[in-house]
Amino acid sequence: MLRVKVAGTGAYLPERIVTNDEVAKWLDTSDEWIFSHSGIHARHWAAPDESSSTLGTKAAQQALEAAGAKPEEIGMIFCATSSPDYSTFPATGSLIQSALGCNNAGAFDLSAACSGFIYALELGRCWVMAHPGQKALIVGCEVMTRTVDWNDRTVSILFGDGAGAVVLEAAEAPEGVQPYYSLHGSDGTGWQAIVREGGSRVEPPKVPVGEVAMQPVGFMKMNGRTVFNFAVKKLDEIIKTLCEQAGLKPEDLTRVYAHQANARILEAVAKRAGLPIEKFFMSIAETGNMSTASVPFILDKAVRAGELKDGDLIALSAFGAGLSWGGALTAWPWL
Ligand code: UT7
Repeated sequence: MLRVKVAGTGAYLPERIVTNDEVAKWLDTSDEWIFSHSGIHARHWAAPDESSSTLGTKAAQQALEAAGAKPEEIGMIFCATSSPDYSTFPATGSLIQSALGCNNAGAFDLSAACSGFIYALELGRCWVMAHPGQKALIVGCEVMTRTVDWNDRTVSILFGDGAGAVVLEAAEAPEGVQPYYSLHGSDGTGWQAIVREGGSRVEPPKVPVGEVAMQPVGFMKMNGRTVFNFAVKKLDEIIKTLCEQAGLKPEDLTRVYAHQANARILEAVAKRAGLPIEKFFMSIAETGNMSTASVPFILDKAVRAGELKDGDLIALSAFGAGLSWGGALTAWPWL
């Protein structure tokens, strides 16, 4: 049967590592507090000449190489990001498209905050099914460290920069391979739990004709406790719902690739779902929360470490601002 498969993965982290001890030099915090509340020891910071598109381009180059795909074979680029190079346009996807030389590709951005990659994967899967002769590139890229106020210890310490990418293509799947299940949800009544002010709600400042006005954009504000409780409930629900749809039990899953927001969230989810925490792939100690880059990033890490093998029954899941959430269950690398 014709299905969509992940033909290659890639990831990129900026060089500079900022440890909790370094953060504690300018912020009233400590490695002990940050690690005990989040499981984070360090995060990567983009260099001044880096941005979401440059990080995303590097991850995408690796994914193309792993897939043995030429840039001109890509028909569409789905770029998930909450920290685009430009506040609204041009799309970060378009910048990635030109940097890669994907000259036959359409490109656009989509925003579902930290859940964005799960949404992009679903769109990419449907697009490849509609255009089976072409490949799709799905990128999750973030420079989250520029969306937070580094004087705000309740939010800033959680976030890091990075990117992940996958190439999708249509292929004949072996007989009997596990079907793909996915779910996506939104509860806009919870929008105030994570918000970054600015945008079309804000009247731009009036300046004399000929002068360039900059529209103000705020830093991220978050109600950590509300988001924590929402995340635990939702990630548990995602795993159980997907397993139920597939006629499986959570313990049938080989591994769970969940959004790396907080190790304590994943520990609580594991407990609720009756799974050992070892089933959850973890990278958060070294990366912090890279928003929508986190799921493609850990997929690539797992593939390159030889931990994610063909036929593994896996669940992907994420949650974020919106509030939004999404998940998928399948046998790797089939979608
Ligand atoms: O991608 C989605 C993004 N969001 C998330 O995943 C966030 C989910 N939430 C969380 O991860 C947690 O709520 C946090 C890690 C953000 C905070 O942990 P918490 O256990 O909910 O702490 P809290 O906000 O209730 O604060 C407890 C105490 C407060 O002090 P008092 O009022 O008890 O004296 C804070 O002022 O800890 C203090 N505090 C800190 N202390 C040292 C808050 N941040 C820090 C800090 N260092 N960085």
